[in-house]
Amino acid sequence: MVGLGAMGSGIVEVFARAGFNVTGVEVDDAALERGRTHLERSLAKAVAKGKLSDTERQTVLDRVTLTTSRDDLADADFAIEAVPERLDVKRDVFADLDRVLPPGAILATNTSSLSVTEIAALTNRPGKVIGLHFFNPAPVMRLVEIVGTVVTEPGVLAVATEVAKRLGKTPVAVTDRAGFVANALLVPYLNDAVGLYERKLASREEIDGAITKAVGLPMGPLALIDLVGLDVCLAVMDVLWAEFRTPRYAAAPLLRRMVAAGLLGRKSGRGFYDHS
Ligand code: CAA
Repeated sequence: MVGLGAMGSGIVEVFARAGFNVTGVEVDDAALERGRTHLERSLAKAVAKGKLSDTERQTVLDRVTLTTSRDDLADADFAIEAVPERLDVKRDVFADLDRVLPPGAILATNTSSLSVTEIAALTNRPGKVIGLHFFNPAPVMRLVEIVGTVVTEPGVLAVATEVAKRLGKTPVAVTDRAGFVANALLVPYLNDAVGLYERKLASREEIDGAITKAVGLPMGPLALIDLVGLDVCLAVMDVLWAEFRTPRYAAAPLLRRMVAAGLLGRKSGRGFYDHS
């Protein structure tokens, strides 16, 4: 697993809880420690919720190796990348994965906003590159989108689908189009909530309360944007806009300004709500 942010560390947890040995890689010791803390907190929460025993928690941790060297992935037969959503950063990661992993290994991306086809084209094994798109929080959310491209080998799709099932997830095969399926539906709704808030039609609590209390979703849209990350939501809106050019996919100006100001939600301590 390359990248141990909220998604990466959650994905490490999912694999380790399903019995896989996982090597998690970050760029430096500080990022590695943040990933470790995220993993330990989430496991502690699972224990507190009665989803995991204390002994199982320790077994899960024993299956995880954390490192700052991508060369430690030399024995891996399945790699997943969840680094920041920039093609130049992905290029660097995939060049290393291509060099380090055995030729038959599958390289997966957890991207929610970049084209899996473009990422595959960065490698010397495009047929073995696939999208494996988890949802936040990865240990809890059931859906995993399996994103095939025009050149993905059928056997690779089959392995990824089987892996997702072994993780206890529900795999859904989707085509490589902006937003895939879930985000193409969800993120414009989240963006619309920012529009309502920006036009002062209701307070953030009223907007979120309307959805949790009336519609029954576990979180209101503004709280969910804070969980997902304002930057991630903006990136999804921008690729939807770039691909389809319809007003429905125009990012709310406030969303863009908040991202520019570094208000990214839970991960930065402040978004629509204060998380410090
Ligand atoms: N490990 C295992 N299970 C856990 C857990 C953990 N670390 N944390 C919570 N759970 C379980 C709980 O036990 C509970 O399960 P049951 O219903 O079986 O009892 C369930 O998760 C919900 O937990 P709680 O009701 O106690 O509430 P919570 O505050 O702990 O949960 C939440 C928070 C799970 C995030 C919930 O609010 C939620 O589901 N929110 C919506 C999240 C969502 O929509 N995510 C998708 C975002 S889009 C995305 O990610 C894609 C992208 O690319 C942008």
